[in-house]
Order: sequence, then structure tokens, then C-alpha cells
Amino acid sequence: MSSHRKVAVITGSASGIGLALATTLVTNGWAVVLLDLNQDEGVRQARKLGPHALFCQCDVSSYQSQAKAFRLAWDEHGRVDAFVANAGIQDKASVYALRHKSGGIDDVPPAPNLICTDINLKGVIYGVQLAIHFMRYNSTPGGKIVLMGSIAGVVPDPTFPEYSSTKAAVINFARAVARPLRIKENISVNVVCPDAVPTKLDPPEFHAAVGADALTSTETVVSAFLEFLEEQGDSRRYACALECSQDRLIVLKEPEVGNGKISLRSASHIPSEAPKMPALISCGYPVGKEHRFDLDYYKNTFMPKAFNFYKPMGMSGYEIIEYKPRKGQESPWSAQVYMYWASVDHFNAAMENGGHDLDAEIMVYSDVEPDTISGDIAANAI
Ligand SMILES: NC(=O)c1ccc[n+]([C@@H]2O[C@H](COP(=O)([O-])OP(=O)(O)OC[C@H]3O[C@@H](n4cnc5c(N)ncnc54)[C@H](O)[C@@H]3O)[C@@H](O)[C@H]2O)c1
Repeated sequence: MSSHRKVAVITGSASGIGLALATTLVTNGWAVVLLDLNQDEGVRQARKLGPHALFCQCDVSSYQSQAKAFRLAWDEHGRVDAFVANAGIQDKASVYALRHKSGGIDDVPPAPNLICTDINLKGVIYGVQLAIHFMRYNSTPGGKIVLMGSIAGVVPDPTFPEYSSTKAAVINFARAVARPLRIKENISVNVVCPDAVPTKLDPPEFHAAVGADALTSTETVVSAFLEFLEEQGDSRRYACALECSQDRLIVLKEPEVGNGKISLRSASHIPSEAPKMPALISCGYPVGKEHRFDLDYYKNTFMPKAFNFYKPMGMSGYEIIEYKPRKGQESPWSAQVYMYWASVDHFNAAMENGGHDLDAEIMVYSDVEPDTISGDIAANAI
């Protein structure tokens, strides 16, 4: 039996923004599962929040630790409606190696401590994978994932370069996974990017230097999370990065590229201007637990199926032009095709309106290894 209340799993929620969010969600009728490294504070805060809050000690930089916490949440509630990947720290080492500046050539600095990356980035990716898994078993499969970014992921921060990089990566990770997860898993992924918030993350001196007028309250950040978590219906947002600054929430535009559609084609699979579009299509089918490429299957089953599917949307033909094993791969996955379309608009509309049923929007121009999401999705389509 699953809980009546919606259930949110929130990492780093024994203090600061995570705790403020958990508190508001409980008030709004949710049950929350607090995950944090800090056992004493976590237990104390969960007690204060009452019967709809559960604490589980968890180190997000460990996949096993997060998996155990998700399992506990599931066993307790039988549902995971939302996952908020909030836990984060700042750089624990300085890449500038200033202490070694005058020690001579042999004073090579030791390897930096990159725990910030383990927590802020790897921890987020671990959590998202686990959330996807558990959300598949909700009575209505799917859910909401909101990641904690930062304005430092948008504007490079020279003081905390590792932190800044992890947050930029989190924003891009959210944007990268959001579309397939929305389409294939009924999961919306968004990311919140606060400016400086007076929490324990930074010392009071930092807040003083920023200036009170430029600080953002936890309430503003919580309201950004609520925008995503309480949004209903099929039109709910995904891939949205929301800056929280002072009392404002501002949707951040995706960055522009210098060479327009050409550059976008290589990174985000947006089609060229030409109606005849070269496409690298990865396609696989499951053999036992593995996915393998099979040229006969590709030629005789997959492409005809794809063609039938896209024909009413303006695909006028296709031509398999090349099949090349990838270097160093026993089981090659790629076939080069030309896809003929009535127009770029037809292609775009097909991808937008129906492509997901075949996952072709993932595969077109995609050169992703089969054991990644593209492979899974391609196998799924068949
Ligand atoms: N405070 C800001 O100015 C600001 C601005 C932008 C983004 N953020 C982000 O907000 C998030 C929350 O930070 P906060 O400001 O509330 O700070 P905070 O220090 O009050 O909260 C962070 C929480 O994460 C927990 N944590 C740390 N390492 C962990 C681990 N390995 N596993 C599980 N939990 C762990 C801590 O114990 C703490 O409870 C962070 O990701 C931070 O980068 C903060």
C-alpha cells in the first residue's frame, strides 16, 4: 500500500535550503524523506517536522548509500513522486596550488581532493538514475526531478572553480536528460540556480562581501522548487533552468553557439537545412541482457518500421549508405543513412510530434555508445 501523501526524497536536507524545502513540503501535504550525511542534525530536524518526515543517513557520493536510502523511502511509502538532488559542498582543495608556488620544480602538488565533484556532480547523477528506477514503479509511472544548480554554474566563479564546474555540469546534465525522460519515462527534470543564499555553505564574511541587497532568501529558492514540484498536467515544464535572484525567478536561456545550426547539429541533433539529411542511426535489439546491432535486423525490420512511422509526417525515403564497425568495438552499432524529407519543417514536426515513439530524435545524428541511454532507448523502440 502506498502513502496517501506525495513523497519527496531530498538530499542534503538536514540544513539550509534542503531543510527549508522539506519544511514547506510537509506543510503543503507531502511526506518527505530527508537524506543527509549529518546524522544528528538529520534526526533532530526530522523529529521536529513530525510524522511525515523520515531521515536516512546517506552519503550522496556513494551510489550504494543513495540506493539504500531510496529503498528505505520506497519501503516506507511505496512511492517516490519527487527527487530533489540538493546536497552540495564547495571546493575542498585549491587547483591554484599556491602553497607550492615557491617550493621548486620538485615540489609537485599532490592530487587535488575532488570530493566536491563526487558530491555535487556524481552524487546528482547517481540520484537521478535511482530516481528513474524507483519512479518506474509508482502506481502511475513517472515523477519529478529537480536538481540544485547555482548561478556559479552559469557565471564562472574563479574562487571556487571546481564548484562552478560541477554546477555548470548539473545544469547541462538536467538539460541533456530532460527530453528523453519526459518522453520515455513521464519524468520531468528541471534545475534551480540560486544566487548567494545566506546558509552554512558560505561563511558570513562572504555574505557580507556580496552585500545584503544582493542576497537571495531561502524562501525564494523554495518557491522555485515549488514551481516545478507542484506543477500539474501534461504541459508541465522540463529542461527548465530557473535562476533565483533576490525575490525573482527568471528562466535562463540555453547558451548560444557561434556557428548556429551547424554546431547545434553535432551536439543536440537538430537537423540541417537540407531536406536530404545524413543521419547516423544507432539501433540495437536485446540479446539476453545485452544490446547488439544487427545489420539485417536494421535493414529489414527497423528502418522499414521507422519509414512507415515517419511517412505520414513527411519522410519520403531513405537510403542506407554505409555500415562501419567502430574502432575497437566488437559489436558495432552504427549505420549511416540519408533520410529524405519533404522539408526541414516536416522533419522538425515529426521529431516534435511523434518521433519519440521510435526514439529517432535521439538516434538521428547521435553517435552515442550503445550502453548509454541512446542504446537503451534504441533497444526499447523495437
Ligand atoms: N547557499 C548558497 O549561496 C547557494 C547558492 C546556490 C546553490 N546552492 C546549493 O544549494 C545546495 C544546498 O546548500 P545550502 O546552501 O543549503 O548549504 P548547507 O550547507 O546548509 O546544506 C548542505 C547540506 O548538504 C549536506 N551534505 C554535504 N555533503 C553531503 C553528502 N556527501 N551526502 C549527503 N548530504 C551531504 C550537508 O550536511 C548539509 O546539510 C547546495 O547544492 C549548494 O551548492 C547554495
